[in-house]
Amino acid sequence: VSAADRSSGARTQVVTGGPLALDVEAASDLAKARVRLMTMLRDAGFSTRAQTQVVTAASELLRNALMYAGGGKFEARMTRRGVRIEVWDEGPGISERVMHELQEGTYRSPTGLGKGLAGCKALMDTFRMMSIPGRTHAVMEKNL
Ligand SMILES: Nc1ncnc2c1ncn2[C@@H]1O[C@H](COP(=O)(O)OP(=O)(O)OP(=O)(O)O)[C@@H](O)[C@H]1O
Ligand SMILES: [Mg+2]
Repeated sequence: VSAADRSSGARTQVVTGGPLALDVEAASDLAKARVRLMTMLRDAGFSTRAQTQVVTAASELLRNALMYAGGGKFEARMTRRGVRIEVWDEGPGISERVMHELQEGTYRSPTGLGKGLAGCKALMDTFRMMSIPGRTHAVMEKNL
């Protein structure tokens, strides 16, 4: 952002960086993703509260990718509306039964609280997930 941009008072959204892309293969990558995403959101003008909500939701997806698929990919980019986050992996996928129970809100997790994906839905403005054996892909957005 140049000094001229800052002083103009125009409510133009200034995109300061390109998209964020990261392979997530270990807990340290998750930490890296959190820090970089937080910076990106702050620079884009998200409130502290919204920053925390988005980082929390992204962490849940990345935790799942690590835990259930042994790793995955993370991408965050600014759109005209706000931020779009994508996380995908090439793990076993989520069974139709679990997918259905998640949708109904009746899912009971054997490994965790079973609140990760429900949390994403609650914290973000849009949340979509598709999963087949060999590919799980989540896309979620938060508006500025
Ligand atoms: N990337 C994924 N690959 C395969 N299965 C997944 C993936 N993400 C989620 N799942 C399945 O969906 C279930 C629900 O995920 P969710 O994150 O909501 O809950 P959890 O991980 O069990 O518990 P929590 O996140 O609250 O600790 C998981 O228990 C797991 O069976
Ligand atoms: Mg989880």
